[in-house]
Amino acid sequence: MGNFHFLLLLVFFSFSCLFHGGISRAVKSPGESEEVWGYVEVRPKAHMFWWLYRSPYRVEQPSKPWPIILWLQGGPGASGVGIGNFEEIGPLNTDLKPRNTTWLKKADLLFVDNPVGTGYSYVEDTEMLVKTDNEAASDLTTLLMKLFNTIESLQKSPLYIVAESYGGKFAVTAGLSILNAIDAGKLKLKLGGVALGNSWISPEDFAFSWGPLLKDVSRLDNNGLEKSNSLAEKISQQLKDGQYTDATDTWSRLESVIGANSNSVDFYNFLLDSGMGPVALTTSAFSNGVFSVNRYSRYLSSLRVSPGNDGPDLDTLMNGVIKKKLKIIPDNVTWGGQSDFVFSYLSGDFMRPRIAEVDELLSKGVNVTIYSGQLDVICATKGTQAWLDKLKWEGLKEFLSKDRNPLYCKEDQATKGFIKSYKNLQFYWILGAGHFVPVEQPCVALNMAAAITQSPAASTS
Ligand SMILES: *[C@@H]1O[C@H](CO)[C@@H](O)[C@H](O)[C@H]1NC(C)=O
Ligand SMILES: *[C@@H]1O[C@H](CO)[C@@H](O)[C@H](O)[C@H]1NC(C)=O
Ligand SMILES: *[C@@H]1O[C@H](CO)[C@@H](O)[C@H](O)[C@H]1NC(C)=O
Repeated sequence: MGNFHFLLLLVFFSFSCLFHGGISRAVKSPGESEEVWGYVEVRPKAHMFWWLYRSPYRVEQPSKPWPIILWLQGGPGASGVGIGNFEEIGPLNTDLKPRNTTWLKKADLLFVDNPVGTGYSYVEDTEMLVKTDNEAASDLTTLLMKLFNTIESLQKSPLYIVAESYGGKFAVTAGLSILNAIDAGKLKLKLGGVALGNSWISPEDFAFSWGPLLKDVSRLDNNGLEKSNSLAEKISQQLKDGQYTDATDTWSRLESVIGANSNSVDFYNFLLDSGMGPVALTTSAFSNGVFSVNRYSRYLSSLRVSPGNDGPDLDTLMNGVIKKKLKIIPDNVTWGGQSDFVFSYLSGDFMRPRIAEVDELLSKGVNVTIYSGQLDVICATKGTQAWLDKLKWEGLKEFLSKDRNPLYCKEDQATKGFIKSYKNLQFYWILGAGHFVPVEQPCVALNMAAAITQSPAASTS
């Protein structure tokens, strides 16, 4: 215990010295995870917030190092520190009760409000917001350099990037930028792999998937299908012509058209309506961008299983007790306050595909996992398979010809999913889940997290 406090003090001390722009704190009571958080000024006037949980379930095994998962939320502009942490995989849920299926059981967890302007991260001047995925990747690499080069204990754990939604575009660009920094001797880190959960890797392929998918599951008829396909064609042409911002506008129109023709299907789960949460959304609210933070939270809170125990909404939680606990969030920084700007500053990159980056990671031998919830619309499995077919990776043909293996969970007899694997590419089909796989299928998602990270705790579930 004495040693432990000393260690914390040491960590605290080195953070205070090195991370100007924010002091971080470490907290631990018995049986709880050790937590550290702070800000890194990744560029002048651009402050990125991070929060690291060290797992209390850690297993020491010489042959299998304990992994760290870096969770990247989507949006762009959605907070990993808020949504990924409290609504999906962190140790506590939004009622601040323990989450039984926290991924902390298999790995340490690093949440980052990425890119700057997201969640608690902030810029002092909106011109400091990123305009491309590559700028975001560069900031994230700077943050990791500060953390990993300073805290030696982190260097022993391989880092696995696990992304959701738009986070997939950040994950592949950051993956490459991290490898460059490692090669250049600037970053002391071992990249374990990259996992792309329902990720927005090829916007064009998703746009083309929506109409056919929704027609096949009765949510559109032929009229809706034709309107949808003609806008998808328009997006395709705009992308060919390099009109990326126009393509983002057409994408927004396409969502409205699908909303109007499907009586507002939920873009995150086609079995649901988009107005499921406490605040019903009108179709016109669609044009605000389906990825927006508020819609995420609303959708996720509608999934909470305990009725009558609704907990505070995420906004109240993050700007209330959590902000108070963290102590270092500047008074004039509101969690989520700059999120909408993050999206609009990235609107010129939003529709740009990142298939080539996936290819590059594969050819460099990085383990790439793709997972896809069966019921998602926005990043539908159908669209994911379409961009997968476009990979130039030499192993693709072998991969596609392999058989899948079924997945189960605990004593449940029902098939929960399938996995296909060849060399450094893995694909998980997750049944009964939409966009938010860890929320809708927590058991199979936790097993998958263990497998992706080669966790020494894998056998315990
Ligand atoms: C939590 O997990 C344990 C062990 O897997 C299980 O026995 C228990 O029933 C779970 N609790 C809930 C609330 O699901
Ligand atoms: C908060 O206030 C400080 C001091 O007035 C200022 O320098 C900083 O830019 C403000 N931050 C934001 C995000 O508005
Ligand atoms: C990469 O994946 C292969 C196959 O699943 C596995 O054997 C290997 O340990 C993985 N490497 C890392 C660093 O996770």
